[in-house]
Amino acid sequence: MSIKAVRGMHDLYGEELRRWSAVEKKMRAVCEAFGYSEIRTPALEQVEVFKQTVGDDTDIVQKQMYLVANQEATEKLVLRPEGTASFIRAVIEHGLHQSGQPQRFYYNMPMFRYERPQKGRQRQFHQLGVELILDPTPEADAEVIALLDHLFRSLGLRNFEARINAIGCADCRPAYKKALVDYLRPRLSQLCPLCQSRFERSPMRVLDCKNESCQAVIKDAPTISSSLCDACKTHHAQVLKRLKELKLTFIEDPKIVRGLDYYNRTAFEFLSSSLGAQSALGGGGRYDGLSSRFGEKPFPAIGWAVGIERVLIALEQEGLLPKLDPVNDVYFAALGQQALDLLIPISISLKKQGVPVHLLYEADKSLKSHLKSADKLGAQFTVVLGENELAQKKVLLKNMRTSEQEMIDLSNLESTLKGKVKRAD
Ligand code: HAM
Repeated sequence: MSIKAVRGMHDLYGEELRRWSAVEKKMRAVCEAFGYSEIRTPALEQVEVFKQTVGDDTDIVQKQMYLVANQEATEKLVLRPEGTASFIRAVIEHGLHQSGQPQRFYYNMPMFRYERPQKGRQRQFHQLGVELILDPTPEADAEVIALLDHLFRSLGLRNFEARINAIGCADCRPAYKKALVDYLRPRLSQLCPLCQSRFERSPMRVLDCKNESCQAVIKDAPTISSSLCDACKTHHAQVLKRLKELKLTFIEDPKIVRGLDYYNRTAFEFLSSSLGAQSALGGGGRYDGLSSRFGEKPFPAIGWAVGIERVLIALEQEGLLPKLDPVNDVYFAALGQQALDLLIPISISLKKQGVPVHLLYEADKSLKSHLKSADKLGAQFTVVLGENELAQKKVLLKNMRTSEQEMIDLSNLESTLKGKVKRAD
């Protein structure tokens, strides 16, 4: 077949999907234990949701958005490239920000970015993210960072480090931007073409550039810490103090500026040495002004998102992929039509009660091939009903793990299996 999945987008099934589900379940449980409740937003949004917020000059808006039109081209929509702007759109639409009380949300949703695919970088990827609104305190910053640290640790991950920076606010950032532009201008020819083109509009993005010649220039660039206003300085010092009290290990990194425009004050990234080139396991920060880009009064907000694909790669690298529970399925081997007729209603009844039963609607398969199928499935029990068993109104029940087998009355089959097999949730 020549039709394949879209490049950079993957099908998930079988053991891989079971592993994903196990990891997602753990991560959700951690978020819920911290008091975050789930939110889901549509995959399609109006283009303005991201254009006005993530920033016109960012990679996402410049070149990574999947634009979608309906047949009549009456709407210009975009497949969500990230969750935060959609989240704030939803908060405002439902008036959640009017409660006056801090509110905590998490999401687990696919995102879409037209990027060059490589290990850890897909065009459809999945993020688990949290967003905490209406809490301006540095304690909120410390909470979400501690939550992210705990999330990774609870999965067993250890080869990661938290990098934290203060990126200022609307009051103090202009002075820093000016200092940075003044520093970069005489060194412009040493910057990569992209940084040359955007250094006046987004000089802080140069700090983030991975290009070697840009890195060499940035090495001695002024850092924002000397330009922070008093309020930002106090906020940052308190965030760090709280993190130290919580015994979190982190690195203060003036190069963490994030690739999205909406951040202020705290910005952070968690990098993993198990990931290769795409080393960011997750990142986030405070974005108190994002709501004003939707024409609302600004309200405080902070959050982060992690790439679930990257978490799974890191878990694999560190030998931490979750052990999957052995399947507790039951395989029914019906040898002949009469056996099949008897087993169909029993199998449906057991399934209704949460016992996973596999029955092939074929009467003439040999016992050998049935046992092969049961093995392949990894079934915990196989039930055989053939001529001999029928004559005795019994079935053969074989425990596939221990190879023990016993004859039991056909009339007791249902109750016996209900007692022996762990039911599906
Ligand atoms: P972001 O840094 O763009 O932030 O993405 C967060 C995480 O998503 C990254 O650290 C990475 O693990 C994963 N990720 C990003 N792009 C890809 C990709 N193409 N393939 C695989 N994984 C990827 C945000 O999206 C912000 N909305 C985070 C946030 C939430 N800030 C505040 N609240």
